[in-house]
Amino acid sequence: MNTSSPAQGLSRRNFLRLSGLGTLGVLAGSAIGFPSIAKALGRPDAELIEPDVEINLQAVLSQAPIFSGLETQVWRYQADLIKGPAGTVQPIPNTYLGPIFHFRPGQNVRINFSNRLSEETIVHWHGLHVPEAADGHPRLVIAPNESYVYDFTVLDRPGMYWYHPHPHGRTGPQAYRGLAGLIIISDGSETAQGLPTGAYDLPLVIQDRTVDSQNQLVYFTSMQGFLGDKILVNGQPDVALSVESSVYRLRVLNGSNSRIYKLAWPDATPLTVIGTDGGLLDAPVQRPYITLAPAERVDLLVDFSQWPAGSSLALRSLAFAGGGFGGGNNANLPNGADFAVMTFQINDTVVPTLTPTPSATPDPGPLSNVTYMPLIFSTGTKAQNSTAPAPASSDFRAEQVAPQQVARSFSLYMQFGQWTLNGRTFQMEATAPDEVVELGSTEIWEFINQQPGGGGGMMGGGMPHPIHIHDLQFRIISRQAPTDPTQLSNWETVKDGYVDGGWKDTVLLMPGERVQVQMTFKDYTGLFLYHCHNLEHEDMGMMRNYRIVEPGA
Ligand code: C2O
Ligand code: CU
Ligand code: CU
Repeated sequence: MNTSSPAQGLSRRNFLRLSGLGTLGVLAGSAIGFPSIAKALGRPDAELIEPDVEINLQAVLSQAPIFSGLETQVWRYQADLIKGPAGTVQPIPNTYLGPIFHFRPGQNVRINFSNRLSEETIVHWHGLHVPEAADGHPRLVIAPNESYVYDFTVLDRPGMYWYHPHPHGRTGPQAYRGLAGLIIISDGSETAQGLPTGAYDLPLVIQDRTVDSQNQLVYFTSMQGFLGDKILVNGQPDVALSVESSVYRLRVLNGSNSRIYKLAWPDATPLTVIGTDGGLLDAPVQRPYITLAPAERVDLLVDFSQWPAGSSLALRSLAFAGGGFGGGNNANLPNGADFAVMTFQINDTVVPTLTPTPSATPDPGPLSNVTYMPLIFSTGTKAQNSTAPAPASSDFRAEQVAPQQVARSFSLYMQFGQWTLNGRTFQMEATAPDEVVELGSTEIWEFINQQPGGGGGMMGGGMPHPIHIHDLQFRIISRQAPTDPTQLSNWETVKDGYVDGGWKDTVLLMPGERVQVQMTFKDYTGLFLYHCHNLEHEDMGMMRNYRIVEPGA
């Protein structure tokens, strides 16, 4: 970390940085004075930090060859590395997805973002623990041709995170048009841990889209969210990926607006999970299938040598119930339909060992202390019995943990035709008295996917809500099954696919479900968000602020 001398008070440069009117800046007059802005945006230190990594990022209008025939008009992120290790910005070929950003723990990152769209936007780094000013809150949107400068230090565990737009009311359509990209944080210890690297480490972004006869994206918003009827992986349909008869790490992001996936192998081989939203689990767990809601990530270890070389293997999304009113708004492919996500063509090539890559210098990150060495070649049915998992992140299953002292409780329900959190919808700057927390405190929040006062379901059983909290990773400490019989039987079709044992920033609540999460508010005061990550629900106001304040403030 190169931290240069603390500034004496706030320099002009810092002001520009904090206010997002920086180096690329188009100065849109700001009425906010210097001292208040630093405080308001959670950077009271006002230190000048030289970045280790500097990236110029733009959101632009573009087009991409997605389907055969006409190209599709998309919006996309594109980026140039200004400073930092080669490979920090990794474009994905043939896609509208933004480049992958590869960060290391401890790096000071500066991102100069320019809006080249025709409407307001702002970028959010989903899952990252960053200061308020760098979190992409909707009140920080910038107009077309304006710029915003993000400064943050990478304090997160190695893992896969992502970035996407966050303007209020327009996140759904902007992400749908293509604005999304991955962030992979790595501490260089993957090889030492026996994890596949390089070509054996495959990020997979799963999204659904609908296009018209001209191959142009179709989008509309509804209370149920938007479901596309074509499944894209890394921006392409009908993906058939050629793999060797070897062990791979598949890092999967559900980058869809509303669709939930129930990922499984066609022959019911269990999936070996090594990580979730906030990085690696303490030990791998197995699941018959994976329930993956919008914004959730799952990190899988797959040994393709367990299937015959030369065969082709579909990764499927299995049928489930409770995906929305009557399954969701897309008659062609409802939420809960059974379909192939992609296929893997398994080559004859057998790679017996994963050779360490020279660049992977072991550099134990501050938070990484897991070892996967003994497990790498035992991804079959016997990967369970590794080193004893830590209690907090063991293979938690529903109803194993007794409900604990809850600090705050949020019911998810519809009121006056709107999805709400405790009956409230989004207000740009406001927090209610029960939405203020103290820096340094640890709390349990409970989410209840139910109308208060019971009343089983509504219109066919309510809707799933993937709840996301900004600024932190939490632990899921308990999950209670629905009591309503219909909701319960729907829940039974997805519950075995939950991976609740690791660090999470997004948790799915099926209709009637109740979940408790534990979190600690660290390092930064300020205004952050919690919301449903069904992007149409979010856009329609199923989002609230919470404020982290100094203790006693
Ligand atoms: Cu992935 Cu508030 O967002
Ligand atoms: Cu987020
Ligand atoms: Cu929702």
